[in-house]
Amino acid sequence: MTSPLTADRVAPLLRSSFGRTYRHCESCTSTQDQLLAGDPEGTIAVCEEQSAGRGRRGRLWQSPPGRALLVSVLLRPPQSRAAAELTLVAGAVTAVLIEEAIEAPVGIKWPNDVLIEGKKVAGILAEQRDQTLVLGLGVNVNQTADELPGGARLAPTSLRVATGREWDRAELLADLAYELEATYLNWLEDGLHAVAAALVDRDVLHGRQVRVDDVTGTACGIDPSGALLVETPAGTRSVVAGEVEVDW
Ligand code: BTN
Repeated sequence: MTSPLTADRVAPLLRSSFGRTYRHCESCTSTQDQLLAGDPEGTIAVCEEQSAGRGRRGRLWQSPPGRALLVSVLLRPPQSRAAAELTLVAGAVTAVLIEEAIEAPVGIKWPNDVLIEGKKVAGILAEQRDQTLVLGLGVNVNQTADELPGGARLAPTSLRVATGREWDRAELLADLAYELEATYLNWLEDGLHAVAAALVDRDVLHGRQVRVDDVTGTACGIDPSGALLVETPAGTRSVVAGEVEVDW
């Protein structure tokens, strides 16, 4: 296991107000359950290992102790589309951050998968709870190829597998907190304009044959509301939520 993400390691690196209230534990069920309704906005919960890490659609999110970034952030966004939009915001922030770190292209599979060379390196889970939204980010950082989960819907990778070296998770976490806060504030002002270019530039579905529920056709972009656009024989359909199956 690489050095744990204890407060004494992370706090000196923080340049954001996100993470100033910081909760770290060795092990928990899910960092999503470590945030409290009364916590200040931007409170971050992190752990080394989750016993019941959650992915989208009831899936498990698994990683061995001390290898991944397992992060939840408490937000109080004002509007009803926040969970869907902040999934895209967090995906864009994570993709740009990884791209800058590894100096290689990173893709986004709408709505929440972050990919290196077609393999999943990170995922986002937004859970709405009354007046709060808990934004969960899982980034595969220092797992070796053997430590990545088998049988996943999308083949997994990690920064270490992609680059051949280990990464400092505390530095990545501080950068993530900084960029997430800055982009969240932009989103509060401007909505998805804040990340539109980042999403469009990294959209791995563009031009692919896709199926989402009962919509089949060619993915042709992401509209200003964050919906996936699919060109079908009956015209362009916009899909606001769902699981995309792709013919790569
Ligand atoms: C997905 O790709 O399906 C979303 C994965 C989200 C995983 C992160 S890890 C930190 C936080 N805690 C959880 O239980 N899930 C999210």
